[in-house]
Amino acid sequence: ARPVRPGRYEMTQRVAAVEILPGLRTEVWGYGGTFPGPTFELRRGIPAVLRVRNELPVPTSTHLHGGVNPPGSDGYPTDLVVPAGHAAPHGHPGEVHHPVAKDYHYPVEQRAATLWYHDHRMDFTAPQVWRGLAGMVLVRDEEEDALPLPRGERELPLMICDRSFEEDGSFRYPQAHGGHDHSHARDPDFMEGVEGDVILVNGAPWPVAEVTATRHRLRLVNASNARRYRLRLSPGGRFTQVGSDAGLLAAPVAHDTITMAPGERFDVVVDFSAYPPGSAVTLLNTLAGGPAGNVMRFVVTRRAPDDTAVPAVLSRPPGRPRPVAARTFDFRRTDESWTINGHRYRPGVPLARPRLGTAEVWRLTSDFHHPVHLHLAHFQVLARNGSPPAATDAGWKDTVDVRPYEVVEVLARFDGHRGRYMLHCHNLEHEDMAMMADFDVI
Ligand code: C2O
Ligand code: CU
Ligand code: CU
Repeated sequence: ARPVRPGRYEMTQRVAAVEILPGLRTEVWGYGGTFPGPTFELRRGIPAVLRVRNELPVPTSTHLHGGVNPPGSDGYPTDLVVPAGHAAPHGHPGEVHHPVAKDYHYPVEQRAATLWYHDHRMDFTAPQVWRGLAGMVLVRDEEEDALPLPRGERELPLMICDRSFEEDGSFRYPQAHGGHDHSHARDPDFMEGVEGDVILVNGAPWPVAEVTATRHRLRLVNASNARRYRLRLSPGGRFTQVGSDAGLLAAPVAHDTITMAPGERFDVVVDFSAYPPGSAVTLLNTLAGGPAGNVMRFVVTRRAPDDTAVPAVLSRPPGRPRPVAARTFDFRRTDESWTINGHRYRPGVPLARPRLGTAEVWRLTSDFHHPVHLHLAHFQVLARNGSPPAATDAGWKDTVDVRPYEVVEVLARFDGHRGRYMLHCHNLEHEDMAMMADFDVI
């Protein structure tokens, strides 16, 4: 997306019909009327203002996932932008009047990273993101500029999500509404999170990217409501990870497979010179069989000069500060809802009050797969069940894949802004079923 003036962007959320499956039309709710929404590039040190105008039939709240932003621009679930025409003051005294457009202020004081934006409306995040309200943001900085990583056409932002379709091409979602309707709770598929049987990359099923036989940088986002992926290249090959959720790693890490939970990002380099020109390289999801096992294909076109490299030292991320407190957050199913420390989400009732500029150890315990996400605070994974974290846990992150009956310890830094933020499960159905809590940075 291009700024309308330096640092100023505008997007209108609208209903649009797009072709996702060949020959069929799918109605999407899109930022800018597209699915996914436009990819923005922001630069560290240049503050940005994003004006979001709502022409959808429902209220929205836009969150920049991974952003270090003031609370009023963070997409709090009740901080709504309402559809034009629905904003007329209906005269209940004390009623909050929501705007039809909102300026989100992003200071962009953070390191280069792969971020994404998506809807965050209270109780309705899952169905609204499913309908298309998501897009990517790449933050750039000088530290990244100085690296010889692939760029331009050799850098591919890849937003991965799954959807199901009706025969007429419309998105299939278990019910029209999420949230407080407890009838959902009886549907086990909804309870565990909604998965689709078709994997989309940047909104396209099973797409093909033509690549020269050179290194390429893939900026991977798992934007699925509930699906986890284990990505592998066929016929073989490695991912060289250069960045995680919150920015560049200190040093690259090689992986044969990458497991990605909803909300997580992986910034990886793949060297296509390892494959003969003319061959096809498939990105597979080995956690699923059938069509959901196929993510996308690369067709290697020809040899080409390549002056890129993955240096042994990538960046100097901030070190680990000494924690001043430790807290436990237990993610668990309680009767018919998903809770944190036994509570359904209570907006305005913070479960923790960390101090600005400090770090704390947060112990995350769980009864199921819960991708746990913190707003504002970036963290490092310290341990899983008392053992060292996985190779894919490297770096500063904002979302961690907590597996069934696992205890994950993270060291979180509360930097940037005071105010009210949330932690929640990024399985979006779990989030809508109240697996969310506020914390106040004081
Ligand atoms: Cu990507 Cu609060 O979420
Ligand atoms: Cu977030
Ligand atoms: Cu969950």
